[in-house]
Amino acid sequence: MRIVIPGGSGQVGTLLARHLFAHGHQVTVLSRHPRPASWHTEAWDGVTEGPWVASVQNADAVIHLSGRTINCRYTPEHRKELLESRTVPTRLLGKVIAAANTPPSIWLNASTATLYRHALDRAQDEYTGEPADLPGERGTHEPANLPETWSFSANIGHEWEEALASVPTPKTRKIRLRTTLVMSPDPGGVFSVLSRLARLGLAGPQGNGKQYVSWMHDLDYCRATDLLLEHPEITDETDGIVNMASPDPLPNRDFNRILRHAWGRNLGLPATSWMMEVGAFFMRTESELVLKSRRVTPGVLLRHGFEFLYPDWTQAAANLVRRSRALRH
Ligand SMILES: NC(=O)c1ccc[n+]([C@@H]2O[C@H](COP(=O)([O-])OP(=O)(O)OC[C@H]3O[C@@H](n4cnc5c(N)ncnc54)[C@H](OP(=O)(O)O)[C@@H]3O)[C@@H](O)[C@H]2O)c1
Repeated sequence: MRIVIPGGSGQVGTLLARHLFAHGHQVTVLSRHPRPASWHTEAWDGVTEGPWVASVQNADAVIHLSGRTINCRYTPEHRKELLESRTVPTRLLGKVIAAANTPPSIWLNASTATLYRHALDRAQDEYTGEPADLPGERGTHEPANLPETWSFSANIGHEWEEALASVPTPKTRKIRLRTTLVMSPDPGGVFSVLSRLARLGLAGPQGNGKQYVSWMHDLDYCRATDLLLEHPEITDETDGIVNMASPDPLPNRDFNRILRHAWGRNLGLPATSWMMEVGAFFMRTESELVLKSRRVTPGVLLRHGFEFLYPDWTQAAANLVRRSRALRH
């Protein structure tokens, strides 16, 4: 297939480009700062049309992943950038795809599992999951006293999906990838950040440790993408929504313990909620990324027979640690 990946220079994009290229697809990454890679890379700015339009219009599939990293403080300037770096390129792609004579048949667009509510009680899949409160809806689906930053980030996901829906593309199936933490051993990804804390003895329970962590192993993320490219119709009954998650979300306390053990560390200093707020401030990030309970499961993938290579965290963490060590040497 000819597959174009706008925003494909980041953590997830590099995983996917590498995987799809290795499986014989013709891969083009669109980037604001194109760098040489085994696959083709082309310049775009995510805002205006340019020579890249031909690649998108002649592709079989588009996988759109651009967006400013959420690992930052939610200052007014960052809030604007977090939103617009997702919605503006999404609308632009919609316009370009809608105008194509022979448009791609599939458009996978990144979205986020934070669209589901803060859930401690039960798993949230695509069929029965409940939405997080948006600004102005405080207390509708979640307790009213949750921090404002939580509804802010749910709203980003909401606006992002609205941008995807905003331009009709009758010949192109749209899929919303409600993605949990994608765990890969590559430097700079979320697994390397969490692993650093574990190796320093700092990955004890965070907050009260009861909040759930949802995650997906990188190989399963890539294999699930293969399935969606081959059988996009499996998302029709959920209007294109698919949770990119493993079937084993687990409480933060257990998640961190298993990660520490995978690195051969027993000690894990706990961090209470107020310590997380202070620490997040100094790390220039938001505690929501760790304290919100994301108990998200892959209903569509399971219903359609997807077999996870790494369904549980113990097995996945051991594999990721082994590959991280191999990369470091
Ligand atoms: N990683 C995860 O676990 C995870 C979980 C849930 C959702 N997601 C979402 O999935 C997408 C891909 O994740 P990722 O981890 O690969 O992200 P990433 O490493 O931060 O990469 C995202 C890419 O977006 C582009 N970008 C950044 N700021 C931009 C801006 N202002 N305007 C246009 N493009 C911009 C960058 O490409 P260039 O600089 O090359 O243009 C960057 O390489 C993101 O939208 C992310 O929010 C990721």
